[in-house]
Amino acid sequence: MTDVYAVFGNPIAHSKSPLIHAAFAGQTGQDMVYFARLAPLEGFRDAVRAFIAEGGRGANVTVPFKEQAFALATRRSGRAEMAGAVNTLKFEPNGIFGDNTDGAGLVRDLVGNLGVELAGKRILLMGAGGAARGVILPLLEQAPSRLFIANRSADKAIALARSFSAGQDILAAGGYEQLSASFDVVINATAASLAGDLPPLPDDVFSGDALAYDMMYGRDTPFLAFARDHGAETADGLGMLVEQAAESFYLWRGIRPNTEPVIRMLRAA
Ligand code: ATR
Repeated sequence: MTDVYAVFGNPIAHSKSPLIHAAFAGQTGQDMVYFARLAPLEGFRDAVRAFIAEGGRGANVTVPFKEQAFALATRRSGRAEMAGAVNTLKFEPNGIFGDNTDGAGLVRDLVGNLGVELAGKRILLMGAGGAARGVILPLLEQAPSRLFIANRSADKAIALARSFSAGQDILAAGGYEQLSASFDVVINATAASLAGDLPPLPDDVFSGDALAYDMMYGRDTPFLAFARDHGAETADGLGMLVEQAAESFYLWRGIRPNTEPVIRMLRAA
């Protein structure tokens, strides 16, 4: 019998996940289908429960349900615990396993696809919401020399940094006005790009061969334009999107798909 998966979100119509997982399934010969499902804003739990009752094997979860998915899971990975959010559910005979593959997806895109070594590097992470929280532990695991979390509301960044017991020696946080040194990798995990906005970065924020990474994809953002103007290399979040999907696929199917042709296909589309 064909295994069924879905992505739950609201809105969900523009999700690229069905396309990505269909490509992975075709490439690896897995007998599965994957649909996008719109869950009502007040009805996420019921939607997932109904999907399980129909025989669903697993699901991705996107905005605004990642915290609810965290609560729904009966067992969670360490990285999901630290992220405080779940983007991948695996339905098991005795419960629901929750994982978070976002941070691993970002690291795989940076290190594997973009060839950016993170060990020993100075990383600036902008934002202190769910998107930022989800990537902190996987970034720390790459052993950067420094990870600074900058946020408009500095208190939020400081509280977020404090919640990570590991890596305290390299982790620091504050407002944008506190940015004095330059960084090798600058990651935008704020919602600023959505609003066509640019976080207040100083002109000398980029080191000589810095990479600017915007988690948003599909359009040029003020942050990437600013980075280009200041001599940095740039990347959008399309690779992260495909890599987090590959990590979910691996959790469900035990096979690692080849992401490169899928990223290329989405770029061309
Ligand atoms: P998400 O789950 O996507 O991270 P969130 O929890 O609402 O969403 O967090 C949004 C993040 O983007 C926050 O860090 C927010 O900064 P504040 O905490 O100071 O509000 C940041 N953000 C949103 N709009 C921004 C802007 N125009 N400039 C800078 N940061 C912005």
